[in-house]
Amino acid sequence: MNILQINASSRREGANSTRVANSIADRLKARHPDARITVRDLAADPHPLLDEAALGALFTPAEQRTPEQAARVALDDALIAEVQAHDVIVLGVPMYNFGNSVQLKTWIDAIARAGVTFRYTASGPEGLIKGKTVYVALARGGIYRDTPNDSQVPYLKSVLGFLGMTDVRFIYAEGLAMGPEAAAKGLAQAQADLEAALA
Ligand SMILES: Cc1cc2nc3c(=O)[nH]c(=O)nc-3n(C[C@H](O)[C@H](O)[C@H](O)COP(=O)(O)O)c2cc1C
Repeated sequence: MNILQINASSRREGANSTRVANSIADRLKARHPDARITVRDLAADPHPLLDEAALGALFTPAEQRTPEQAARVALDDALIAEVQAHDVIVLGVPMYNFGNSVQLKTWIDAIARAGVTFRYTASGPEGLIKGKTVYVALARGGIYRDTPNDSQVPYLKSVLGFLGMTDVRFIYAEGLAMGPEAAAKGLAQAQADLEAALA
């Protein structure tokens, strides 16, 4: 088993989403001692935004790209290859301002590539990143689980599913800014979610 852990907090140190993602990876490793774990920390190693230059590079045929454009596309290619090379993906996902971190969005923007990780067929879109199990460690100051204010879970189900990743298991660490008692309860809930996700 190859495990890819993506830390998408803005924080390199002290991130709750990373802490929960670490405990998921640790539990998987305990179950599968031969598992190899790759960690990509998007705070320590930021991926560039999908800006005008990046779009220009992506839409330029490979043989016509400038060296700068080729280098920019290669950065995304590396993240795609990394996902393809792993069986299990662990995402550490903070909630910032009711949404995902910009770090997570840059990773999604990098791995969503028409013709490579998804394609359109006569019967609709087809995700091409198949056969993965994805664990998502959600860290939140408040509590949003199963409420209309949880925009992250529906979005992640949609976009990961669109890319072919349909086995997505959510682990919720919530209430982390609501005082020490609520935070402890939130982290305990995450452990319970993890056990259920592994069952
Ligand atoms: C800029 C910022 C925005 C935040 N926005 C929200 C929010 O909208 N809802 C919420 O429940 N918590 C919010 N929080 C609290 C975070 O979800 C919480 O600190 C969580 O631990 C962040 O994950 P991290 O520790 O992995 O970075 C916010 C925190 C920061 C720093």
